[in-house]
Amino acid sequence: MPDKQPQRYQFFDQHPEIADFREDIIRGLSAPEPYILPKYFYDETGSRLFEDICNTQEYYPTRTEVSIIRNNIDDIVNTLGKDCLLIEPGSGDSYKVRLLLDALRPVAYLPIDISRRYLQDEAQKLAAEFTWLNVHAVCADFTGNLELPYHVEAVNKVAFFPGSTIGNFLPQQAVTVLREIRMMVGDDGGLLIGVDLQKESAILNAAYNDREGFTEQFNKNLLLRINRELGADFDLEQFEHLAFFNKEKHRIEMHLVSRQDQHISIGDQVFKFEKGQRIHTEYSHKYTVEHFQQLAREAGFNSVKTWLDEERLFSVHYLQVAGPGA
Ligand SMILES: C[S@@+](CC[C@H](N)C(=O)[O-])C[C@H]1O[C@@H](n2cnc3c(N)ncnc32)[C@H](O)[C@@H]1O
Repeated sequence: MPDKQPQRYQFFDQHPEIADFREDIIRGLSAPEPYILPKYFYDETGSRLFEDICNTQEYYPTRTEVSIIRNNIDDIVNTLGKDCLLIEPGSGDSYKVRLLLDALRPVAYLPIDISRRYLQDEAQKLAAEFTWLNVHAVCADFTGNLELPYHVEAVNKVAFFPGSTIGNFLPQQAVTVLREIRMMVGDDGGLLIGVDLQKESAILNAAYNDREGFTEQFNKNLLLRINRELGADFDLEQFEHLAFFNKEKHRIEMHLVSRQDQHISIGDQVFKFEKGQRIHTEYSHKYTVEHFQQLAREAGFNSVKTWLDEERLFSVHYLQVAGPGA
């Protein structure tokens, strides 16, 4: 009897436990400067709201990154090399990878995302659309020493990390995340990564304060999610969306600001917020090409090629692992 063929679509569930979510929220809200980690934006509603944000006129990163990939597709594919195992941490709707798949013909595509239902839906859609493609979806936290769900040898591993998700981390944390990706792809691996660039404050402030209010809903969805999953009693009307570019630190900062003195309960824990007090929810660091390349070097990657749009709004880099001792 011949061996059974492995299934073309597979799903590996390593979703973090609800207890970890509770612990992170309680730790963050108890801190002298309260915060919620941005990975918690992404339940199914948060993932769909992020799609809406990407389609707004103000949110230039998605369309700019897509145009960079489209305009340089042959060069990108030649640089990456065919027949790789393509791994995408924080894959979201897997929209951008569609631009690469036909030309790249990877042996398998491994989308990794924390948003379980959304990942399942999007990965299944992709497998139906690309009928030759092996799609092995992994629901996991890519910041948590993630191991690939199966052992792969003798294949060129390439990570795809678009959307400037790397900008959500403080620069030194970004080096740690890049090191984790380096471990994922191994000594001969590579990384194709999208990184947002420094630019005029007005463009940045508009991008995180869209007129349709999707970013505001995305920010407040965190509170809804904490209410639903952890039994908290946040009143969304009593918090305001705040997003602004911090010029000194080269980053967008997103917060929820308490509109009044109030108490919030999560189970038996009570948190006091004063009028005007902020809960920090997200950073989005904006780099120069040189600064990002320096972080990549610290993480053990060499810069092979960088592609930019004409207005130098956004950058896409191909990095290669510098070698085992680097
Ligand atoms: C900024 S969005 C980018 C989505 C997509 N890659 C793109 O370029 O449009 C970040 C994505 O990463 C996922 N994500 C964020 N933090 C994560 C984490 N720690 N582990 C796994 N996925 C994460 C989110 O669910 C979301 O889909």
